[in-house]
Parts: sequence; structure tokens; C-alpha cells
Amino acid sequence: MIFIGGYVSASGVGLTCPDWPLCPQGFLPHEDFIIEYIHRSVAATTGLLVMATAAFVLKSKDAPRGMKIASLIATGAVIGQIALGAVVIVERLHSLLVTAHLGLGLVLFSMVLMTVVYSHRMPAKMAVPAVRD
Ligand code: HEM
Repeated sequence: MIFIGGYVSASGVGLTCPDWPLCPQGFLPHEDFIIEYIHRSVAATTGLLVMATAAFVLKSKDAPRGMKIASLIATGAVIGQIALGAVVIVERLHSLLVTAHLGLGLVLFSMVLMTVVYSHRMPAKMAVPAVRD
């Protein structure tokens, strides 16, 4: 998302999808706004994945407190980031809003990374019970 967003910004195609939430052709992509279309579609997928991860982490009895906090902050950040993306469009790429969009993207990345690091510290459980002689 950070790479695609950086490209959207640097290549100046941020307003090729001038509407919110859908692009001019609804759910259909078009070469005129394909980069911004990809940015929004991957954002929607990212949002679902981050929220699904948080649901599993919060349900888990083994997940440490820090992991639960990190995944909750990630959920808040991804919802805020998608909402902020909408405001960036409505306010026609206001520089302060684009800067906040970059900053919140970094918060989101850090919290997802922390969740992953915590998950690697957790003891792996055997999926299949060991067979005894
Ligand atoms: C997980 C969600 C998202 C992440 C992590 C993300 C991240 C980013 C990043 C890092 C940038 C580059 C900012 C810069 O270079 O200063 C960017 C640009 C941009 N994002 Fe997102 N974004 C997300 C969702 C969205 C959504 C849903 C929209 C809705 C339309 C959106 C609209 C934009 C636009 C228009 C730009 C270009 C701004 C410009 O031209 O300067 N983003 N995004």
C-alpha cells in the first residue's frame, strides 16, 4: 500500500478517480484510472485482512496483551486510513491531509509488523496430535 500510494502521489494520478467511494465506471477498472483503482481495491482488501487478523488475535487465549493492543490499533488505523483516503479525494489532495495519510499509513504498517513479530514469538502448536506407540 505504501509503495502503490507513493506511486499514486509521485505520478500525480490521485484525482483520476475523482469520486468516492467508486471510480467513474463503478466496480470496473479502466486504464484511465487503473493505478488509483488498484490503490483503492488493495486498501479494501487490506482493511478486511487487518480486521480478520484482529478478530482471531482477540479471540486467542495464547495471544499476549501487547499483540492484542497492536492488532486493535492496526484496526483503528486501517479504518481511519480508508476514511482519510476519502477525505483526501473530497478535499482535492490537500497537502496536510495527504501528509496525515502518509503518517497514518506508517502507524498502520508498524502495528501490523508488531502483530507479526508477536506471532513469531508464540509457541507453535501441533496441528495434528502426535501418534503414540
Ligand atoms: C490501507 C489503506 C491505505 C494506505 C496504507 C494508503 C497509503 C498511502 C500512501 C503511503 C500514500 C502516499 C502518500 C505520500 O506520498 O505522501 C497514499 C497516497 C494516496 N492515497 Fe492512500 N492509502 C490507503 C487507502 C486509500 C484510500 C481508501 C484512498 C481513497 C481514495 C486513498 C487515496 C490516496 C490518494 C488520492 C493518494 C495520492 C495523494 C497525492 O496525490 O498526493 N488511499 N496512500
